[in-house]
Amino acid sequence: MLRLALFASGNGSNAQRIIEYFAENPAIEVSILLCNKPDAHVLTRAALLKIPSIVFNRATFYETDDIPELLKTNRIDYLILAGFLWLIPHNILALYPGKIINIHPALLPKHGGKGMYGIKVHQSVISAGDSESGITIHSVDANYDEGSIIFQAKCPVSPNETPESLAGKVHTLEYRYFAEVIEKFVTRDT
Ligand code: GRF
Repeated sequence: MLRLALFASGNGSNAQRIIEYFAENPAIEVSILLCNKPDAHVLTRAALLKIPSIVFNRATFYETDDIPELLKTNRIDYLILAGFLWLIPHNILALYPGKIINIHPALLPKHGGKGMYGIKVHQSVISAGDSESGITIHSVDANYDEGSIIFQAKCPVSPNETPESLAGKVHTLEYRYFAEVIEKFVTRDT
């Protein structure tokens, strides 16, 4: 059994889809959800779906080994970031080399980096006059949005596109592909 830890600190619509996608899978399970915001809606979703969750703060994450210890205790194989905005510290990167995956709501390497999240990403795409956007699923390193690209899917940017309408198109791609790409990635050597 491959065991996934989800890191999510927002609404959690992607986290929910991932949990549901693997719910009946005999070989892969979402074992735990980790979150840095005590009031994040993703915690309600996880509770309803019966996934245990842990909330941690900045000091715990960056100044202790509590999270790596927790991941080891839970025998976690892969970390999946689905709406998690903090850089992953070195103690966790060292424990999971090439085994941490993030989704970014645009076509990296454009429109990524620190502060580039949520609606700001879609505003950036529209201001740049890009004719297409999409999703990037990539491995995670010590910098924002710079790990190697695993998968991209595209959608057109219409002439009358708004950041909100583009967010809807991108969410559709996320829900369509993220869990499937995770499954392929974590089983690629099996
Ligand atoms: C998604 O758009 C994802 O690309 C980004 O954070 C957002 C999370 O949305 N990394 P949700 O919390 O899953 O609804």
